[in-house]
Amino acid sequence: MKKIDMRVLGIESSCDETAAAVVENGRVIQSSVIASQVDLHAQFGGVYPELASREHVKAINATVKEALQQAHMGLGDLDGIAVTRGPGLAGSLVVGVNLAKGLALSTDLPIVGVNHLEGHLYSAWLYQAGSKPSPEPKLPLLALLVSGGHTELVLMRDHLQYEVLGGTSDDAAGEAFDKVARLLELGYPGGPSIQKAAMQGNSRAFNFPVARLSEPWSFSFSGLKTAVLRTVEEFKSAHKTVPTADIAASFQAAVVRALFEKTIAAAREFKAREIIVAGGVSANKALREAFRSQTEFRVHIPHISLCTDNAAMIAAAGYRHFIADETSNLDFDVQANWSLAETA
Ligand SMILES: Nc1ncnc2c1ncn2[C@@H]1O[C@H](COP(=O)(O)OP(=O)(O)OP(=O)(O)O)[C@@H](O)[C@H]1O
Ligand SMILES: [Mg+2]
Repeated sequence: MKKIDMRVLGIESSCDETAAAVVENGRVIQSSVIASQVDLHAQFGGVYPELASREHVKAINATVKEALQQAHMGLGDLDGIAVTRGPGLAGSLVVGVNLAKGLALSTDLPIVGVNHLEGHLYSAWLYQAGSKPSPEPKLPLLALLVSGGHTELVLMRDHLQYEVLGGTSDDAAGEAFDKVARLLELGYPGGPSIQKAAMQGNSRAFNFPVARLSEPWSFSFSGLKTAVLRTVEEFKSAHKTVPTADIAASFQAAVVRALFEKTIAAAREFKAREIIVAGGVSANKALREAFRSQTEFRVHIPHISLCTDNAAMIAAAGYRHFIADETSNLDFDVQANWSLAETA
């Protein structure tokens, strides 16, 4: 009989966080450790790939060790290893994948290479050991995946089934936050700094446009970014102080409106039972509030600490593969470009 009680070690190194976690049965976080490189990359205003992989090499062993220690487990207590195979920076992915393979080889544990994006989706199933279990998302569901590199509406009719309804034709939502933060001379990463500035501003001060697209489930944020740029330039050329907080608040409101309205419309259209909002931008307070204040759908949004990259979500997705009898051979390669549609 298939084993469904499983403790999975998750390993994540796709971008600038080195992370390891132990998750039980795809839901219960026994430990989740993240070594972030954010401060290091802040001086470049973005992730510097070669530096990122070198930092992973330095941090990964200690991170995995710490995750096992915090879970009060040794390798012998585990039932499987899940590792991010892609998408991400190839040089960074290789570090996590190689360690995971080495551990699998030495322990004989099964290993599975996970798509980072399905990890973000499965973060909605997680809760901390010892705390009240969060309600389990019910399928079929509509997922809004909003991260640094992706903005997608995904229909999940079943576990591990991803129908990508639409994506972004230009910038991802997180990328738009990062670029607008740079324009406004706010800090990196842009999402949290825009959110902070927006708290002091008026979200109705500027009526920034949200693109209307012919494809019903796609997004575009480049027009919005250009509108912000134009507004900033107008103030600068008139030698006036740029009203940073008002611009940040109005920009944030426009992004939230676009994401919220399309997600609800898609959930209705495809008769989803529930909604998931996941990925780095789902940490955004205004976005969380927009979804929380409607009552039509139950919405699952991960705890803020699980919105940005972590390894618990990789272990959670890996668990679903293991119980579906899907494992990887030890010769799998990393996949720097890998869409959810190809994963299903
Ligand atoms: N509070 C917030 N409000 C808005 N955006 C946020 C917030 N916190 C983080 N973000 C954004 O989330 C993004 C990071 O998310 P995440 O770590 O999921 O992205 P990534 O892993 O780089 O990309 P991907 O998952 O698409 O490969 C950044 O663009 C950041 O600005
Ligand atoms: Mg991510």
